[in-house]
Formats: sequence, C-alpha cells, structure tokens
Amino acid sequence: MSEKISISPNGEKFPLPQPEDYKSEFNNLKKRIDQERSKGREIVVVMGLGFVGAVMAAIVADTVDKKGKSAKFVVGMQRPSSRSFWKIPLLNRGISPVKAEDPEVDPMIERCVKQKKTLMATYTYDVLKLADVVVVDVQCDYLKEDLGNVRTGQTDMAALEASIGVIAEHIPPDSLVLIETTVAPGTTEQVAYPIMKKTFKKRGIESDPLLAHSYERVMPGRNYVASIRDFWRVCSGINEEAKKRVVKFLTEVLNTEKFPLTVMDRPIESETAKIVENSYRATILAFLDEWSLFAERNGVDLVKVIKAIKVRPTHSNMIFPGPGIGGYCLPKDGGLGVWAYKHILGFEDDIFRITPIAIDINDTRGLHVGQLTRDALRNMGQQIASSEVLILGAAYREDVGDTRYSGSEIVIRKLAEMGAEIRVHDPYVEHWWEFEQQDTYPGVGQTKARFFRNQEKLKEIHIEQNLNKALKDADAVIFAVRHSAYLDLDPEKLVKKIGKPAAIIDCFGILTDDKIKRYFQLGCEVKGLGRGHIQRLKDEVRSKLKG
Ligand SMILES: NC(=O)c1ccc[n+]([C@@H]2O[C@H](COP(=O)([O-])OP(=O)(O)OC[C@H]3O[C@@H](n4cnc5c(N)ncnc54)[C@H](O)[C@@H]3O)[C@@H](O)[C@H]2O)c1
Repeated sequence: MSEKISISPNGEKFPLPQPEDYKSEFNNLKKRIDQERSKGREIVVVMGLGFVGAVMAAIVADTVDKKGKSAKFVVGMQRPSSRSFWKIPLLNRGISPVKAEDPEVDPMIERCVKQKKTLMATYTYDVLKLADVVVVDVQCDYLKEDLGNVRTGQTDMAALEASIGVIAEHIPPDSLVLIETTVAPGTTEQVAYPIMKKTFKKRGIESDPLLAHSYERVMPGRNYVASIRDFWRVCSGINEEAKKRVVKFLTEVLNTEKFPLTVMDRPIESETAKIVENSYRATILAFLDEWSLFAERNGVDLVKVIKAIKVRPTHSNMIFPGPGIGGYCLPKDGGLGVWAYKHILGFEDDIFRITPIAIDINDTRGLHVGQLTRDALRNMGQQIASSEVLILGAAYREDVGDTRYSGSEIVIRKLAEMGAEIRVHDPYVEHWWEFEQQDTYPGVGQTKARFFRNQEKLKEIHIEQNLNKALKDADAVIFAVRHSAYLDLDPEKLVKKIGKPAAIIDCFGILTDDKIKRYFQLGCEVKGLGRGHIQRLKDEVRSKLKG
C-alpha cells in the first residue's frame, strides 16, 4: 500500500492530506465551530475513530437537551495514517467507518452528519484548540512476545502517550479530557497527568489539567449503541473539578437516569475496575478449559454440565468457552494490569498467578481443535495433511464481524501447520486482515504466524460468503463460532451439499445430541470441545445400525 494513499474497506482510494492542506482545514473548522458555539452548543472532540470512538462520537452528537435541542457539536479527530485516514472522508459523507450489525449505527451517523449537522471529522490536531471536552478513544495495545505467555509481553502506550501530548499542547486549559481507552492502572495519574502538567507549564498555564477516566463497556454487535449509551458507567477525575465535569458530561450524553454512574475517588480505581472486570470474565472462561478436557476423556458433555449448574442463581453466568477467547479486550486487559504493577507502580514481587494463566489458557485453547480434527479424519481413514478443512466462523463471537484475536485464527494456524488446506466461511466478515496482511497486521512483527510453521499461504485466505460453495467436497467442517446461520443447519442437507460424509468438529456446543447421531448415521465422524459423550452416541448409532 502506498504511504500517500488510504484505501477504505470497499476499495475507494483517498490521498492523504499534504502539509499545505492543514491551514485551510483549520480555517474551515474554526468558522464552523464558531457558528456552532454561537448556537450554545458545547464543542466535543473525540480522538480516534475506531470501534469505540466512531460510535461514541455519534452518540454525543445525537444528544439533545431538555428542550429537545442539539446541545453538542462533535468533531471526530483521526490521525491521517494510511490505514485509517479513509474514515474521515467517509464519516463526513454520513457513512459509518465501522461495520456494525446494530441497525442503529448507520442511520445515527447519517442523521447526525446530514440532518442534525452535529457531527464531522477532521485530521488536524488544531481542532483541539477549540474543544470544550476531549474524549480519548485511541488504542492502547498489549504486545505479546510468545504464544501462551502473557508475562513476556508489554504495553504499547505509544498512541496514547502521543495523543495526550498533542492534547496538552493544544487545548484550552479548562477543557475536560476524558480518557476512555482501557489503560494500565496508574496511567491517568502517573503517565497522562505528568505529560500534561509539563506541557501546560511550558505553555505558561498554572492550573491543573482537568483529566478524567471512564472506561467503555461497548460490545460491538446487535446492541452496539445501547452498550455505550444505555449502560452503566464507572468514572473518576484527577481532582474535584475534573470529577464534577466528567459527571456532568456523562450525565448529559448517556442514559444515566436508567443506568446511574458509579463515581470512584481516583482514576486508578476506575482503571482497576475495568481490568478486574475483564480479568474476571477471562478467568471464568479459562477455568472451564481443564474441565473441558476432563469431559472429553470421561464421557461427559460439558454443555449439559454447565446447563445443570446454571440453574443455581449464584452460578448463572457460567459460559461454555469456544475455541479461544477473543475480542479486543479479554486477551489483553489482564496483561495491562500485571504489567502496570511492575512498570508503572514500581513493585518488584510477583503477586499475579490467576490473571496471567487465565489469558495463557484462553490464548492456546484453539490448538486442541487441531488434534480433534486430526483424530476425526484418522477415524475416517484420512490424514489431516492435504485434507480440505472448512472453518465456519472467523469472528471472535457470534453474529459480529470483528476478527480481532478470534479463536478461529489459532485453529486455522494450527491446522495449516499440520498441512491442512484451509477454507473459511463467515457471513459477517469480508476480509480477514490477520491473514491477508499478516506481515503488517496487527503490526509489523506481531502476527501470530510467527508461532507456527507453514503459514505463508494463509495470506491467500479469502472468506467465502456462499456456504454451499464453501461446503462442496470438504473433508472436515469445523463449527467455530455460534453465528445464528450455523445453529439450525440440518445434517442431511449439509452432507448433501458437501457431497460425501465428512469429519464434523463442534467447538462451541452447537450440535444437539440428535444432530450428532444423525451425522453418525450419515457416515460422518463427530468430535467436539468438551463433548465426551459423543463416543457414547456413536456406539449407540453403530449398535443400532448393526442390529
Ligand atoms: N472494541 C471494543 O470492543 C472495546 C470495548 C471496550 C473497551 N475498548 C477500549 O477502547 C479503546 C479503543 O478501542 P477501539 O476498538 O476503538 O480501537 P481502534 O483501534 O478501533 O481505534 C483506535 C483509533 O484511534 C486512532 N488513533 C490512534 N492514535 C491517534 C492519535 N494520536 N490521534 C488521533 N487518532 C488516533 C487510530 O487510528 C484508530 O482509528 C481501547 O482501549 C479498547 O481497549 C474497546
């Protein structure tokens, strides 16, 4: 990809802005913002138009005051990198830069840009000079060095630190800066505050920056908007004034009447709340991995075990772990906490046992699918090397198109290492950048390909949208994600579309016992993560067939 061009997902090319463009961009912005301010609107700059920032910007822009009038004017600020610049012209046309399954997202962005005229986007940091509130939604990554060892990784705060730096250089001293990025605990007070304070001093500003933290609980998917707007928030401020301002802002833009705010004393407390919240979930998922193996080896169906336990109200949030725990948050957030203890907060000892191991287990759970596929094919007299294996589902969870850290990636990398030929179907995903651009995505030298052999040809992976085409002549079919399109697939029809019996692997407790039996009757082999009762169902079918 040329450095001078940014290409949108649908292939449209946008030249990156040149140095001479910045002046006129700012002049136009200033005129527009002056007009908006004269209407009594507060000016909110959202930094980072990613999965969180793009939708948060629209929610703020959609806000009305008690009289029903638009009370905020929002400028989404996105750095003009070749990977992300296209988001700006697209948003300015009223088109969402994120693909969302929530039907509220597209019309909301269109409405705010075109009808309400309360939302636009820019690439110039100078817009910060005009901000009353800055919401920071840039990424803060955790880079892992090894597969299955989160401890050797480290936090990549470059984007966040850079953002805080430019914010401090540009904003009026009394602007509220709200960090929504998930950060390593201690970041707001011990990283962001000193950067801002120093820069303020250089600018001759004596007052403290008004820094606040409130983390996102967004769930991209069918309830994308509601998961930001109609959901509980935790917040905190660096001092009383910042706390007061953040409470006021969030009360104005979110549905806090129904979903009240929880206000913490200090930012490190709200930062820790986010990390503990996600580590808790990662842990209860990881904990079931060993019981999943236990179940497979002892004739137990983990799906039924979980169902039996969940009737007890105290245990109702037990979840069947799929072939890995993905999404942007759960694989990294615990790592941010463990890293912060040593590298921000300065402790030498190692108090963490459960948090890192939970992540390590989740990161490697998908490997086992390679074994199950190998064994199912072997039972059918076939070797995994050169077998055609179809993976149903690329996304990290059901009915979304987000592939970040998806368990399916590990499944595929392991199968490719074992020599399988890979095909993929996913109704929500058009491009799987983790494979297609594995030399540069999610970053140069960061691909998980480096933990496996035989990965080069995975760059050619293309996602088949036509299920019938994907199924034809497959030797193995892996149910990797609980997309609704896969839940009701009928064994007869599936085998007919394949054209022969195949190995069927259930990674997510998708198949009912009746379906499993039906696959056996049709001559297939079936295996599943945590589904040890399959052997019993197989014996039952075989003895009936003999009898
Ligand atoms: N995606 C989720 O489901 C989710 C859920 C809860 C919390 N979060 C947290 O929210 C934060 C943002 O996540 P995301 O999914 O939106 O990330 P993302 O990578 O989709 O978006 C980040 C955006 O910020 C832009 N950016 C980076 N540096 C910038 C700079 N200096 N100036 C302007 N723009 C800049 C990037 O180009 C990108 O467009 C993360 O901390 C994440 O952990 C995400």
